Amino acid sequence: MIKLNNRLNEISKLVNVNDKVYDIGCDHGLLDINLAKNKIYVHAVDNKEGPLNSAKENIKREKVSDLIKLDLSDGFEKYEKENCIIVSGIGGLTIINMFKKNLNNLKYIDKLIISPNNFQIEVREFFIKHGFIIENEILVKDKNIIYEIEVFTKGKKKYTKKDIYFGPINLKNKNKLFKEYYDSKLKSKKIIVKLMSNKYFFRKRKLNKEIVMITKEL
Ligand SMILES: C[S@@+](CC[C@H](N)C(=O)[O-])C[C@H]1O[C@@H](n2cnc3c(N)ncnc32)[C@H](O)[C@@H]1O
Repeated sequence: MIKLNNRLNEISKLVNVNDKVYDIGCDHGLLDINLAKNKIYVHAVDNKEGPLNSAKENIKREKVSDLIKLDLSDGFEKYEKENCIIVSGIGGLTIINMFKKNLNNLKYIDKLIISPNNFQIEVREFFIKHGFIIENEILVKDKNIIYEIEVFTKGKKKYTKKDIYFGPINLKNKNKLFKEYYDSKLKSKKIIVKLMSNKYFFRKRKLNKEIVMITKEL
């Protein structure tokens, strides 16, 4: 018996029995096992051997190998025209770049379930620009962190700046989690503003070829 965390549990509820899933960044494979137990076909991929091996063991133990295809793949490398893409727990800009390199595949996809770790606004903008509408949005709390889950389907719709910023369905629901989520975002922005005006400065430094932001007391 496997137990999913709140975030993966919400994601699993968004998949229909007829969907053929391509899960990018499957890690331990627990979401995929849960889907397979509900008779849903999953092509689960990860770009690292470690997570793939743990997924392999879990899938074998749970006896669902017949409904899960496991591959070592960087993003869309091993994509086989599955209709439903899941990407969760990966940074928003990495997700966008993954799709940018594979725009041609968008024609096979009718549903995207995306839960980026950050840059949620940019992710919404990107998929709307590329012919998708926001079908559903869920905020879910897991171990004290609130995550956004977006479901995109094919279509054209006009969104306001406010919709893109907060998410149109999040705005409509405006539930308790919505308030908590944006209160905490506002709080961290206020802290940054305070730091900037108060003896701290930000500068960019090149470190190991990566640009990192550092803060230092003056
Ligand atoms: C934090 S885990 C998230 C696991 C699971 N999807 C979840 O939401 O709990 C991110 C996984 O994505 C994988 N990953 C990162 N970039 C990837 C890429 N370009 N292609 C495939 N997998 C990737 C990592 O190796 C890691 O196993």
